[in-house]
Amino acid sequence: MPDIKAEIKKEVSRRKTFAIISHPDAGKTTLTEKLLLYGGAIRMAGSVKSRKANKFAVSDWMEIEKQRGISVTSSVMQFEYNNYCINILDTPGHQDFSEDTYRTLVAADSAVMLIDGAKGIEAQTIKLFHVCKLRGIPIFTFVNKMDRASKDPFELMEEIERVLGIRSYPMNWPIGIDGDFKGVYNRKLKQIELFTGGEHGQSQVSSQVGKVDDQVFADLLGSHYHGKLCEDIELLDMAGDEFDKRKIRSGELTPMFFGSAMTNFGVQPFLEEFLDLAPSPGIVEAIGSEIDPESDKFSGFIFKIQANMNPTHRDRLAFIRICSGKFKKGMSVRHVNAGKEVRLSQPQQFMAQERTIVEEAFAGDIIGLFDPGIFNIGDTLFEGGDNIRFKGIPIFPAEFFSRITPADTMKRKQFIKGIDQLSEEGAIQVFKQIDIGIEALIVGVVGALQFEVLEYRLKNEYGVQLRVQNLPFRHARWIKNEGLDPRKLNLPSTAIIVEDKLGRNSILFENEWSIRMAEERNKDLQLVDIATQD
Ligand code: G4P
Repeated sequence: MPDIKAEIKKEVSRRKTFAIISHPDAGKTTLTEKLLLYGGAIRMAGSVKSRKANKFAVSDWMEIEKQRGISVTSSVMQFEYNNYCINILDTPGHQDFSEDTYRTLVAADSAVMLIDGAKGIEAQTIKLFHVCKLRGIPIFTFVNKMDRASKDPFELMEEIERVLGIRSYPMNWPIGIDGDFKGVYNRKLKQIELFTGGEHGQSQVSSQVGKVDDQVFADLLGSHYHGKLCEDIELLDMAGDEFDKRKIRSGELTPMFFGSAMTNFGVQPFLEEFLDLAPSPGIVEAIGSEIDPESDKFSGFIFKIQANMNPTHRDRLAFIRICSGKFKKGMSVRHVNAGKEVRLSQPQQFMAQERTIVEEAFAGDIIGLFDPGIFNIGDTLFEGGDNIRFKGIPIFPAEFFSRITPADTMKRKQFIKGIDQLSEEGAIQVFKQIDIGIEALIVGVVGALQFEVLEYRLKNEYGVQLRVQNLPFRHARWIKNEGLDPRKLNLPSTAIIVEDKLGRNSILFENEWSIRMAEERNKDLQLVDIATQD
C-alpha cells in the first residue's frame, strides 16, 4: 500500500490557493489569464472569455452565466507551474460585488492585491483588503498597468501604508515610467530584467537579464533612466523596510511587484516569487481543535452554494474547501452539522471554462459537489466522525436594505421558497422587523446590484414578481448581549430592530453617527458588525 501520509504531505506542500482582490477594471481578468498562460493552461491570451459583466444589464449577465455552464461567480481555476499546483479563487468582480466576494476569501491561503498604477488604492480594494486582514492571510501587491502613465512608485508605497495601514516591501522596481515601461529591477537578485516581445501580451515575453552596473544597461536605458534607477535603489535600501518573511506570512508586510498584465511584463517574475513566498495550506482552526492539512483524515467546509446554474434542471453545487486529508471520488464522509453520512458523488473541478470530474484532491483544493439540498454554507465534512467542526463562516455586514413582498399575494409560497434558496446561497441576508407588526421581509445585500439579481432570479426561477421598497439603512449591527430585550433600548428614531434568519437580534442604522448615538445612550450595549452563519 502506498504511503498515504507521504503522498498527502507532498501534495499539500505543492499547493498554493489564493484569490486576487481588486477594484473593477484594475486588470484582474487580464492577470488571471496571463497566469494561466504562463502555467500552460491556455496557449494564447484571449481564450478566457471577456467578462465585461459591468457592460451588460443584469439580465444579460445572468444569461451569460447560464450559457457558460459555470458561473463566473463560481470559478476556481487550477493549473500547474514548476511542480506547484495552483488554485486561483475567482472572486466575483465588478458591479455585482456581493457577499460572495468576501466569503470566497475565507477559502484562500493568501491574496494578491491588484492595483491600477494610475489610480492607486480604490474603494473595493479597501473593503476586500480588510477581510483579508481580518483573517491574517499574507497579501501580495501587484501594481498593474505600468505600461501607461502611473503614480510615482514611492507615492504608491506611501498610499498603501496611509490608506491600508500595511507596510510594503518592493520586490522589484519599475524601470522607465509613464508609458515607457522597459522592465524591472529585481531587488533579491540585484539585477535588471528588461522585457521584450510578447506579441502585445498574447504570448510569453522574453527578458534580458544582467547586473545594474553593467554598461550594456546604462547604454540601453540611457543615462537618465539608469541614474534615476540607481538613486531609487539606494533610497529603498536605506530608508525602506527590511525584507521579513515572518511579517509577510502574518500579513504585516506586503511584498510589492510592478508590472503590466496586458503586455505580460513582470508577470512571470511575479508568479515565481509569489509561489516561493506564498504559504501552502496551513493549520485550520476548528471549534476546540486544530486541523493539520497533512492529516490522513479528509476534512473540509462549504463556503459557497450556487443553485439553478442550469435552468432545465434545478441543480445546486456546494463548493468545498478541502482542509486536510485526501478526497476520493464517491467517498463517504460525515456531514457533521446534519449528523449523518453522505457520499460525495459527482465531484467537479474547474479548469478555465471547463468542469471536469475530479478523482482525487487534497488540502487547498476546491471542489464543487452536486447538492441535493443537504448542504449549507459553513457545514463541516469530516472522514473521522462527528468530533470536529469548523468555525462558522462570517456573515459580512450588508450595506443596502429593501423591504420586499410578492406583487401577487397568491405567489407567497414560491416567494418564500425563492428567498430561502437565495438566502441559503448567501446571496441575500434576510431580516424580519420585530418592533412593528409588519409581515414584509427586509433583505440586506452587500452590493446594490444584488437586488436586481434577486428580482431577476425570483422572476425567472420561481415565477415571482417582487415589490421592492428601498430603505435608507446602510449598516447592520448584531447585538452581542445575551438576553437583552432590544425593545427596551433607547435608540435613535431612525434605527429599527430586526431579527436575522437565525432569530438573532440586530439593529439597522442609517449612518455611523446613529450607531455611535445608540452606543452612547445604552452604555452596556455591545454591537458587532460581523456574525457567523451558524
Ligand atoms: P478587471 O477584470 O479587473 O475588471 O479588469 P480587466 O482585466 O477586464 O481589465 C480592464 C481593462 O484594463 C481592460 O481594457 C484591459 O485590457 C486593461 N488592462 C489590463 N491590464 C492592463 C495593463 O497592464 N496595461 C494596460 N494599459 N491596460 C490593462 P478594456 O479597454 O476595458 O478592455 P479590452 O478591450 O482591452 O479587453
